Amino acid sequence: MLNVVVCVSGGGTNLQAIIDRIEDGTIQNARITKVISNNPGAYALKRAEMAAIEAECVSPKNFVDRNAFNDALLKTLKEANPDLIVLAGFLVAIPTGVVEEFGGKIINIHPALIPSFCGKGYYGLKVHEGVLARGVKVTGATVHFVDEGLDSGPILLQKAVSVEEGDTPEILQRRVMEQAEWEILPRAIHLIAQGRVQIDGRITHILPEQE
Ligand code: GRF
Repeated sequence: MLNVVVCVSGGGTNLQAIIDRIEDGTIQNARITKVISNNPGAYALKRAEMAAIEAECVSPKNFVDRNAFNDALLKTLKEANPDLIVLAGFLVAIPTGVVEEFGGKIINIHPALIPSFCGKGYYGLKVHEGVLARGVKVTGATVHFVDEGLDSGPILLQKAVSVEEGDTPEILQRRVMEQAEWEILPRAIHLIAQGRVQIDGRITHILPEQE
């Protein structure tokens, strides 16, 4: 059984997708043991409560400085003893100490096809604003392992989504969530829970399903 901790900051629709896929058996051999948010007002915390999942808020506002927050986040994660940490709309720069402690066990969902529209300044709606400003015809989402960089770790899954005439950033964000994020993030967790993911440097390999 893969014990999963999900880190959130906002609406929690990706968290909800994971909850629902575990519930309907699409994700096997995994359970969410804790939800952690940096934002006390995150609706994702309400979603955790409705699903009877333990949740905790570790807010930077409650600490004297960033180092104290980083230490508290690491402590909370270690106490949760996860096999996998999932960053699902988590708008926090992951502290080096967390990557060192859990390297290879942290995945993130990014709402674009990395290496496009990622890195500094590309988060939430800003990603889709960049996509529309550049005029690309295809965007999508990426699940990648987290390393010490920003959106720079080995890519695990990606799914493309078309950009349509008349798209606004909000319309595009919703399509990317519905058609890509909410599918590939649960799938990534399922594959990891089945032991079918190997990381080879910058490259990941998905092993065939065992008969
Ligand atoms: C999503 O677009 C996600 O890709 C980004 O944050 C947005 C909100 O995610 N990281 P959620 O609804 O909180 O899961």
